[in-house]
Amino acid sequence: MSDIKILAIESSCDETAAAVVEGGRKVLSNVIYSQIDLHTLYGGVVPEIASRKHIEKINPVIETALSEAGCTLSDIDAIAVTYGPGLVGPLLVGVAEAKAIAFATGLPLIGVHHIKGHICANYIEHEDLKPPFISLVVSGGHTHLVRVADYCTYEVIGRTRDDAAGEAFDKVARAIGLGYPGGPKIDEAAKKGNSEAIVFPKAKVEGSAYDFSFSGIKSAVLNYINHAEMKGETVDPCDLAASFQKAVVEVLTEHAVMAIRQFGLHEIALAGGVASNTALRASMTDACAREGVRFYCPSPIYCTDNAAMIGVAAYHEYEKGNFADFTLNAEPAVKIDQQS
Ligand code: KG4
Ligand code: ZN
Repeated sequence: MSDIKILAIESSCDETAAAVVEGGRKVLSNVIYSQIDLHTLYGGVVPEIASRKHIEKINPVIETALSEAGCTLSDIDAIAVTYGPGLVGPLLVGVAEAKAIAFATGLPLIGVHHIKGHICANYIEHEDLKPPFISLVVSGGHTHLVRVADYCTYEVIGRTRDDAAGEAFDKVARAIGLGYPGGPKIDEAAKKGNSEAIVFPKAKVEGSAYDFSFSGIKSAVLNYINHAEMKGETVDPCDLAASFQKAVVEVLTEHAVMAIRQFGLHEIALAGGVASNTALRASMTDACAREGVRFYCPSPIYCTDNAAMIGVAAYHEYEKGNFADFTLNAEPAVKIDQQS
């Protein structure tokens, strides 16, 4: 493993994060300042507030990442930053910071796609994982089924047509009154509920077997709550959470298994914030054991938004000489299979 050290910055949503990663797998530091408490007041991320907080926190977070890694900027070989997708204001804070450091130090600059970062989080703890493999990326903003052809080539084979899986968790949690962020709250409530209590429909998407749709399931939950209220019936939030979670987890698992069979690959890696979900992890573990394929999943600290995963993805771009110049800009809607 090479000893290339990359200082990585991530600020695409509500986590201000910096990390130092050596040789594309070894995390020397991973500092995350989460703004969740701030946004909980509003029931979701407020982009303007997030941008302001990133500006306040980015320098101390970077300084802590360098000192925890036992480094100064003179030990660093490249600066990496998430340039998209995400919220434009928050992304701009990270991109401007990375460009400033690269300009001041003369170090090469690398723009990293956020979803590639989530997938690359799997390399940190799994030395044996190498492309090609299938990755199921489930986060607050994205739900993608991806064929990872090599360290820098990604082919999307399925994506959500409407809500992302995490978004559906967050919206349903709000409707049940569990609060924000909804994913972990549904996960906990579901452990106390009966997943067979209510049968929610599993959406099929016309024209693509691999695409997802979660808005139908979300509406079905909202309709169920409304009907119960109209009839004066009480709904057990834990049963509702468990039944909703089961429907989402089943669809995600079925699509992942279908991709594994079709592409003849033997490894599948879960990624993104929803990859922390205990029911999804269990369902994927079982399905992969049945299919005889290896299942990989990052620890929860590397599932949530973090900069270590950005440093890992950047290492492979570094090896290929894919450097950015100072025209690098925030791209809130950049696709994973689009060249930057
Ligand atoms: O990847 P991430 O940190 O940010 C984005 O890139 O979007 O994902 C955040 C999403 C949120 O929707 C959150 O509710 C969801 O991940 N999430 C979970 C769990 N932990 C976080 N969803 C279900 N179960 C969990 N345990
Ligand atoms: Zn993310």
